Amino acid sequence: MSNALSADLHGLASLTPAPAELADLEQLLAGAFRPLTGFLGPLDAATVAAGGRLTDGTPWPAPVVLTGPEALADAKRIVLQDPETVPLAVLEVTEAWRDPAAPAGTVRLAGPLTPLREPVYGAFRRLRRRPPAPGEAARPVLAVATRAPLHRRELGQIRQTAEKLGLPVLVLALLSGAHEQELVRALLAVHRELPEGAEIVTVNLAPRADAARDRALAAHVAAAYGATHLLSEAPVGDAPLTVVSPEPWAYDTDVEVWRPVARIDERHRRAALTEAELGELLDRGSAVPEWFTPPAVAAELRRARPPRHERGVTVFFTGLSGSGKSTVARALADALVERGDRTVTLLDGDVVRQMLSAGLTFSKADRDLNIRRIGFVAAEIARHGGLAICAPIAPYAATRAEVRRMVEAVGDFVLIHVATPLAECERRDRKGLYAKARAGLIPEFTGISDPYETPTDAELVLDTTGRAVADCVDEVLKHLSAGGWIRPQGG
Ligand code: ADX
Repeated sequence: MSNALSADLHGLASLTPAPAELADLEQLLAGAFRPLTGFLGPLDAATVAAGGRLTDGTPWPAPVVLTGPEALADAKRIVLQDPETVPLAVLEVTEAWRDPAAPAGTVRLAGPLTPLREPVYGAFRRLRRRPPAPGEAARPVLAVATRAPLHRRELGQIRQTAEKLGLPVLVLALLSGAHEQELVRALLAVHRELPEGAEIVTVNLAPRADAARDRALAAHVAAAYGATHLLSEAPVGDAPLTVVSPEPWAYDTDVEVWRPVARIDERHRRAALTEAELGELLDRGSAVPEWFTPPAVAAELRRARPPRHERGVTVFFTGLSGSGKSTVARALADALVERGDRTVTLLDGDVVRQMLSAGLTFSKADRDLNIRRIGFVAAEIARHGGLAICAPIAPYAATRAEVRRMVEAVGDFVLIHVATPLAECERRDRKGLYAKARAGLIPEFTGISDPYETPTDAELVLDTTGRAVADCVDEVLKHLSAGGWIRPQGG
């Protein structure tokens, strides 16, 4: 069958959706987004955005849309493929529509989907399962949908609620593309502390920016997975199942157990760590206390968010040619190598263009590709806990933001704007390029005949005019040390 299909598909336009859209595609095909069967058209998208309902009045909490390049606006059938170009489904385009919320040069594509094959890759595949067919799920189930590990408090609340309602428990681990394995391992680590027979299932569910819509979408998915009840502390609007709010729990410091607040003497109640408190402990590398969460969960938290001085980080210099980026970046790399406490990779603009980006021009498209390549490598380095120093011009804000997102999914990103004024860069003109650019010999020269979009999100702004290199490097080192990415020297 797949051969016949591939012959049939030959010649159709193809599209690799963005990771979040691929996750939505998987849920649409699996039936987890019932009643949706395809990506939304303009009317449904508008009514969903405005009032959380499809045009026919059915509650649906969050837009589910597919974005493609404008060139696909006239395509009738499109093969949707994964990043390795494996075809996943065919979209019959019924509507190609322009969405003011979508990036320029793109269209939204709506229409029914024909599945070709299920994605077969991914860690912990054995924890995936398709939702049951409608009407197939007979027995009531209490679902817990979570993007975060379950700590002692939540575990207690789940056991209490499941027992009170007499329901089996289904934990839906909502995977969002970042730190998925740590989440799954942290949930598997507490399996024994969940009620007997509790099942853990992973679902690729791209997070929605609006937390209330994200919760409501998770409730719809839980219902598709056969849940009749959902345990949720936060309110869930228009949920297609019964939302059960857990009784408040706290840690009883007297007898050293978690239990319902009502049963604890006021003097002995200790609240769970807040997300901010937990984050601070992890950033500093302090132990996460055992009263709060089991050690196996703490270990996964630490893996997902290592202490700053062990965490992957990208130091990204941006600025005009001749601003001093390369010089400061190189000297910073040397200083860090001398200290010896971090592995350092330097991705200098000119050097990258001789290797990784050899052959690229200075057109906007090629500059963007160059920066994306640098960002891809920097993110891989960060994923492995290294420190990458990048020093391209990177003139476009949107591309810098894209790199920031790529890196921040796995580590930290520090943007340094080397803000040496154009006049000073031109006065230095070490490579004689400004003179050539002024003479019209180099077209599209940044600062002269091509734009440089000044960053508004730089963590540090350095003007190297009249400053010694060592002085600039010191300032960067101070910033890295204050942020905890490197330890104060001698400490
Ligand atoms: S970027 O725009 O894609 O980030 P990148 O940092 O890789 O640029 O390369 C910039 C270097 O290429 C400059 O330092 C300069 O030596 C050289 N160069 C050659 N042509 C141009 C040009 N048209 N604009 C800017 N830099 C250029």
